[in-house]
Amino acid sequence: MLPRFVGGPILCVVGARPNFMKIAPVIRAMNGATPPLPVRLLHTGQHYDPEMNSQYFQGLGIPDPDFNLEVGSASHAVQTAEILRRFEPVLDRERPAAVLVVGDVNSTLACALVAVKKGIAVIHVEAGLRSFDRGMPEEINRVLTDQISDLLFTTEKSARENLLREGIPESRIHFVGNVMIDTLRYSLKEAVSAAQTLSQHGAPADWGQRGFAVLTLHRPSNVDDPGTLRAVLGAIREISRRLPVAFTMHPRTRAKIEQHGLGAVLEAASIICVPPLGYLEMLGLMQAARLVLTDSGGIQEETTALGVPCVTLRENTERPITVEQGTNTVVGSSPEHILAAVDDILRTGGKAGRVPELWDGRASQRIAAVLREWLDRADVRRVA
Ligand code: UD1
Repeated sequence: MLPRFVGGPILCVVGARPNFMKIAPVIRAMNGATPPLPVRLLHTGQHYDPEMNSQYFQGLGIPDPDFNLEVGSASHAVQTAEILRRFEPVLDRERPAAVLVVGDVNSTLACALVAVKKGIAVIHVEAGLRSFDRGMPEEINRVLTDQISDLLFTTEKSARENLLREGIPESRIHFVGNVMIDTLRYSLKEAVSAAQTLSQHGAPADWGQRGFAVLTLHRPSNVDDPGTLRAVLGAIREISRRLPVAFTMHPRTRAKIEQHGLGAVLEAASIICVPPLGYLEMLGLMQAARLVLTDSGGIQEETTALGVPCVTLRENTERPITVEQGTNTVVGSSPEHILAAVDDILRTGGKAGRVPELWDGRASQRIAAVLREWLDRADVRRVA
């Protein structure tokens, strides 16, 4: 598939929180190329609350989007359908050379699908990751986006193997490293101190000396079923007897806790619940933590880059390098396993880990270089 509108901009797409830290360095690298690569930014509006959205744009220095589809929340089908419907006229007007999507959220797949149906090239950043769990909505988004992408940028070697096994031609795959880690390295010096964030959210002053854990939780597999959620929160309460816990709470998790009347489980002296933090606050908190508990994909990578032990509350990971080389341990959602992993880290300090190949802060520059060469190729020009 070749781009239909040669000479048009590369239209970058974001929709949900984890997209923002991935797009920021890509846009910066495209703007910084000589000559700059023409770029436009579209936000689907999948995430819209200021705490999930605009505070990230500010913290990461992302330009204001040129377009916002304002789709908001809905069932997966309705959310995806709305993006499909609202994205098409933008493509008709803008005539981009390609649509660039990142990650694995609903916005990623929906925009890729509209583009490919219109004969516009699709570029996927963070391609090829696989949890092999088709029960995860993100896994469906990953597999399908990769199938319809023309250029696939990967973060780790396993991704290339996955793509080749699924029949993607090798010539489309480029191992460039991890754009999320570009953002991490770029932002580290700006990170807000953990002491400041903790005190702002009411943590006792001695948490700095005692050490603390950071918790994030939002996967449907952990928060949608009240029995599972109760068990996980019970484990967190138990952990807080050994180590204070700062729980940064995604809106869907907060809603589920309220809906099922589980707030009392978290009423312990050593747990603070805070709203979703800005990127620089979260970075400072993770960097200073003794360990991080999470079901997020990106946080598994960020903790590996930071060298902070990570306990992943999922049955699998699409980012195996964080386990093989990094600081990540995947334990599932059973309270015994979560507690055993935490006790092990408190006893031993956790896995030392090392930073994976090409997680060096320069992935976006590599992407920009490939894009330049790809756009300049003679066979691409011929379709004009
Ligand atoms: C989405 C991504 C997930 C990613 C996560 C990060 C998909 C399938 N999932 O999950 O991969 O890890 O973002 O946050 O795309 N809500 C708000 N305010 C917002 C956005 C959402 O209150 O700004 C609430 C709404 O109740 C909404 C729910 O969160 O129904 C779920 O939002 P949605 O965008 O569907 O998925 P996430 O769980 O955020």
